[in-house]
Amino acid sequence: MAKPGRKASFSNLGKHRKRLEEQPMRVQFAVDPNRFKRYSTSGAGILLDYSKNRIDEDAMAALFDLARAAGVEERRDQMCEGVHINLTEDRAVMHMALRYQGDQPVPVDGKDVMPDVRAVLAAMESYSNDIRSGAIRGHGGAQFTDIVNIGIGGSDLGPAMVTLALEPYTRADLRAHYVSNVDGAHIHDTLKRLDPKTTLFIIASKTFSTDETMTNAGTARDWVADTLGEEAVPNHFAAVSTNIPACAKFGIREDRIFGFWDWVGGRYSVWSAIGLPIAIAVGYDNFARFLKGADAMDRHFLSAPLEENLPAIMAVLGVWYRNVWGFSTHAVLPYDQRLGRFAAYLQQQDMESNGKSVTLAGKPVGWSTGPIVWGEPGTNGQHAFYQLIHQGTDVIPCDFLIAAKPHESLPPHHDKLVANVLAQSEALMLGKTAEEVVAELKAQSLSKAQIKELTPHKLFPGNRPSNTLFYEQLTPETLGSLVALYEHKVFIQGVIWNVNSYDQWGVELGKQLAKALLPKVEGIQSGEGHDSSTRGLLAYYLANKG
Ligand code: F6P
Repeated sequence: MAKPGRKASFSNLGKHRKRLEEQPMRVQFAVDPNRFKRYSTSGAGILLDYSKNRIDEDAMAALFDLARAAGVEERRDQMCEGVHINLTEDRAVMHMALRYQGDQPVPVDGKDVMPDVRAVLAAMESYSNDIRSGAIRGHGGAQFTDIVNIGIGGSDLGPAMVTLALEPYTRADLRAHYVSNVDGAHIHDTLKRLDPKTTLFIIASKTFSTDETMTNAGTARDWVADTLGEEAVPNHFAAVSTNIPACAKFGIREDRIFGFWDWVGGRYSVWSAIGLPIAIAVGYDNFARFLKGADAMDRHFLSAPLEENLPAIMAVLGVWYRNVWGFSTHAVLPYDQRLGRFAAYLQQQDMESNGKSVTLAGKPVGWSTGPIVWGEPGTNGQHAFYQLIHQGTDVIPCDFLIAAKPHESLPPHHDKLVANVLAQSEALMLGKTAEEVVAELKAQSLSKAQIKELTPHKLFPGNRPSNTLFYEQLTPETLGSLVALYEHKVFIQGVIWNVNSYDQWGVELGKQLAKALLPKVEGIQSGEGHDSSTRGLLAYYLANKG
């Protein structure tokens, strides 16, 4: 019998939704004392509790059937074998090789890539050690105190997120900064506190042609040349790129250029030489631990049956909510201040990967694809947008992330943090019924009229889904596992949605138009030919730019 198409598969799941609409989670928890045990599992140092979801065993079985029918396992094998699953760019997708800890060859297009991967890692190790020890110094002989990574998108978000997350492993006398925005304010405000004599720039760009990065790199180069002299430039710059000739042309010394390969997508490149600022900031050994943690998650992803596979569970739940319940956003809420850039990082990883509306064959998809991913660390979010998550008209599936052990010894803080994260997922799941609200208000001796007036405002619908990811401590290994977990989740969802998760044509049009508009914004060409809104805005700018 022919397999049903994707659309039919999603609508077949509707019957499970119907059944579960009648069985809110609070009822399911009440009748099943084993619900946590049934719907929690762990892998690569992470405990995933997914019991607070609108699921039962039949729904989960149907979701795993869907994943299998979509060919998740076959595509996973193809990815590992180096098949060019990035069809529109005709490239393999091999970021797992960058963190591979085994001793088997990893062939891409007939060549084992591991010797090259290890050679770049060895070069990163020696360079980062030399920067940290002071063996490599600035032009005038001063030790570097500040590293400025200039890059954007995947050449910024990964290292910036990781450096913040691993703050306990950094040194006070060696600070990492990240400049990405072409807005001059970004580089200006970064450089104003720095001394060129002790500042090292890393120009990170897979293509070494991204306008924002090249503009910021030019400004940084001028800053060094103007203050220390042109001859100082080679001692204050390193580069990370797949475009080695362009790095050399910029004036970077050959031994300070760290390469990677076209089989590493920008948003999957934190494991490559793009991680150089991480290695400098936290030490190469800790960067290696980060890779190790990711490899542990890869082994789990590649070996665990889908039913026990963390990325697969999270992926099918995301599909369930997106395609069967129609929820369009997904919140990532780390109860960890140092994961302050985690949601921003995942926005690129997820939305640039699965924000697509044609299938692999180029036909319009007939279903929703990637959700809008957003989030902020708790408990700050609780005092900002959680109101909407609890009582708003949209249902927002949430991921809560929390460590059992903090890095600091400040006793009341972490227990309070944990109490808050547990309270939030419990509150979202349970809600508060009219009976409970009335009883509460009666206990406060409110009049009947007051109770009637206040009750609807104090109701919580509940039955709002969440996952909780618990881990021992936010170590480099744990962080590596977490990032790899989300990468594989996005991969599985891309297979189920039948899209190419590894291209990003959607960012091109804006780039092209910005290029065409620049001479008009500079006043060199007229705005003729543009729509009236663009012409009106141009005219306003030209009249007011001063
Ligand atoms: O935003 C588009 C994009 O191509 C991303 O995929 C990439 O991470 C970013 O730009 C930066 O590109 P590059 O590393 O080539 O400068």
